[in-house]
Amino acid sequence: MNTKPLRASVSRHAHFNAAHRLYVKSWTDAQNEAQFGPCSNPRYHGHNYELIVKLTGPIDPVTGYVYDLGILSSLIKREVEARLDHRNLNEEVPEFFDRVPSAEFIAVAIWEWLRPHLPVHVDLHITLYETPRNFVEYDGAQ
Ligand code: NI
Repeated sequence: MNTKPLRASVSRHAHFNAAHRLYVKSWTDAQNEAQFGPCSNPRYHGHNYELIVKLTGPIDPVTGYVYDLGILSSLIKREVEARLDHRNLNEEVPEFFDRVPSAEFIAVAIWEWLRPHLPVHVDLHITLYETPRNFVEYDGAQ
C-alpha cells in the first residue's frame, strides 16, 4: 500500500474594498501621472479587490482535510479584511506608508500576514484581483 500522503490544494475566496494612490513620493505629480495614469489621482480612487488564498499540502488521512476552510476564513477576516477593508491603503496601513500599494505589494503583505498562522507543511499562494481582468499572484518567492 502506498503510504505517501496525497497532496491537494484548497482555496478560500474573499473580498475587500480599499482606496489607494500609486505614486512615488520623490517624483512630481506629472512623473507619477506618466507612470501610473489614473491610478495616481492625488485624491485617491477605490477598487473592489477579490482575493483567493490557496493552501497546498498533504491530505490528512483521518480528517480528509488539507486545512480547515472555516479556520482559514476566520484567519482571512482577522489578518486581512480587518486591516484592509474600507481603508485608505496609503494613509491607514503601515505596510504602505513607504511602499507603493500596488496589487503586487498588497499580495505580498497579505502573504506575510497569513504565513505565520499556517502550518509549515502547507504552501501558501495568494491571488489578488484588482479589477476583473487584472490580477497578481504571490507565493513567497524572494
Ligand atoms: Ni488603482
